[in-house]
Amino acid sequence: MVSLFTIVSVALTLTTSGVFGQCPPNLTGIATSGVSIQPSLSEGFLWGSETTPIVAGLAVTGQSSRGNSPTFIITPDPVINTTFTISLLVTNIGNQLFYQPASTTGTTPANQLWDISCLTCATPEGQAIPGGSFCSVQAHGTDNCVQNDDPTEPLPVTTCIADGVSQFVDINPGDEVGF
Ligand SMILES: *[C@@H]1O[C@H](CO)[C@@H](O)[C@H](O)[C@H]1NC(C)=O
Ligand SMILES: *[C@@H]1O[C@H](CO)[C@@H](O)[C@H](O)[C@H]1NC(C)=O
Repeated sequence: MVSLFTIVSVALTLTTSGVFGQCPPNLTGIATSGVSIQPSLSEGFLWGSETTPIVAGLAVTGQSSRGNSPTFIITPDPVINTTFTISLLVTNIGNQLFYQPASTTGTTPANQLWDISCLTCATPEGQAIPGGSFCSVQAHGTDNCVQNDDPTEPLPVTTCIADGVSQFVDINPGDEVGF
């Protein structure tokens, strides 16, 4: 049971932080198994790349098939990591998304940090599962969100729009067929 106080606090937090979702994706149990990231309004497509294997420097695109999509790991930092031997992080370069190696200095650069919040963090049946639906992926400390409307080019990072549709993704457990 969510108290009214909690709801008011969350609403205030969302208003002051400029975050457009309502809940963090539930990452319990998916620290190692990973997730797929699917543009909410593009049934059948996933964040991935145009080609495989995915290597450093490739673009993160939003309309890839399952075979061209890595399993992502979202850590509490929060970074969006891949399960490859050399961890490649979703990285914002010039407001476009690319796969780049993690920093070796031990400090995560700002362009690899993301704030993720979702409209719902449970299945339509009401069963709590890892992940979330209608999630915005916001460049940490900015008012910019990843937009998912670019089929083959690197995904752009532009101003978040509270009622914009192209900025939303669904985050599903990696072993679940998201379409
Ligand atoms: C990315 O994930 C890999 C595989 O789980 C892990 O070994 C690596 O430490 C992670 N890197 C970061 C920066 O989280
Ligand atoms: C998060 O997901 C786990 C299953 O992995 C579930 O047991 C837990 O209740 C969920 N938490 C919330 C707050 O929904």
